[in-house]
Amino acid sequence: MTVHFIGAGPGAADLLTLRGRDIIAACPVCLYAGSLVPEEILSHCPEGAKIINTAPMDLDQIMGEIAAAHAEGQDVARLHSGDLSVWSAMGEQIRRLKAMGIPVSVTPGVPSFAAAAAALGTELTLPGLAQSVVLTRTPGRASSMPEGETLKNFARTGATLAIHLSIGNLDTVIGDLTPAYGADCPVAVVYRASWPDERIVRATLATLKEALDESISRTALILVGPALAGEGFDESSLYSKTYDRRYRPQSADSPWSSWSHGDD
Ligand SMILES: C[S@@+](CC[C@H](N)C(=O)[O-])C[C@H]1O[C@@H](n2cnc3c(N)ncnc32)[C@H](O)[C@@H]1O
Repeated sequence: MTVHFIGAGPGAADLLTLRGRDIIAACPVCLYAGSLVPEEILSHCPEGAKIINTAPMDLDQIMGEIAAAHAEGQDVARLHSGDLSVWSAMGEQIRRLKAMGIPVSVTPGVPSFAAAAAALGTELTLPGLAQSVVLTRTPGRASSMPEGETLKNFARTGATLAIHLSIGNLDTVIGDLTPAYGADCPVAVVYRASWPDERIVRATLATLKEALDESISRTALILVGPALAGEGFDESSLYSKTYDRRYRPQSADSPWSSWSHGDD
C-alpha cells in the first residue's frame, strides 16, 4: 500500500500529468484538497472509489482515513492543487506517514505561477531584465514568515516576484515593493489561471489598487517586476548567429567543433 501525492495542476482538468491521471485511475481511495482541485479530475477515479474532500478535515482526521486505507491494503491518491513543492502541506503529511511506516510517492504538477505566466504569454526571465523568479507570499493569519524572507528584501534583488496567497494584503505588497521597483513597475494579477473564469489585470504598482475590484479576493497570483513589461529586454545569446556553442560551432577552431553529441 502506498500514498501517492499528486500535483493536480492549477485548475484546468487537462493540465494534469499523464502519470498523475494513471495513478488516480489505479487508486481505490482518493483524498483531494477542496475547491482548488477541479471535479473533472476526480472523474479519473475508478468506479466505486472512496473520494474524500479533505478541506474540512484536520491532519489527524486525514491520517485516520489513510490509516484505514492502509489497514485494507488500498492505495491512496492524495491530490493537492498546482505542484506539491510549494504550499501543499505535503511535508507534514509525509513526516507522519514515515513515522507510521507507510510508503509514499510524489508526482509533480503544473504550479500556478507557470499557469499564470502562460495566461499572460510572458517569459518571467527576460535577458537584461530579470534572471530569477522568487516564489513567495506575505504572512497570513495562520502563517508567519521566517525572518529575512520579506518582500522588502526580495525587492532589493529586482527579480520577478510571484506573490502567492497575498491578494488580501495589497497595501503591504505595494508599500513594500514601491521603494525598490518604482511606482511605474509593471504588475499582473492573474485570477484562477487556467480555470474557465480566469481573469487578468495588468497595472503598475501605482495603479494596482485602483485596477482591482473586490471580485478578485482569493486564488490570485500577483506577478511583479520589469519582465512583466514584456519589452526592453535583450535577445538571448543562445540563438545569436555569432554565439559559439556545442550544437553550432562557429569555426574549426571552436572548442566545440571536436565534440560529438555523444559527449553531452
Ligand atoms: C495554498 S497555495 C497552493 C499553491 C500551489 N501548490 C501551486 O503549485 O501553485 C494557493 C495560492 O496559490 C495561488 N494559486 C493557486 N492556484 C491558482 C490559480 N489557478 N491561479 C492563480 N493563482 C493560483 C494563489 O496565490 C493561492 O492563494
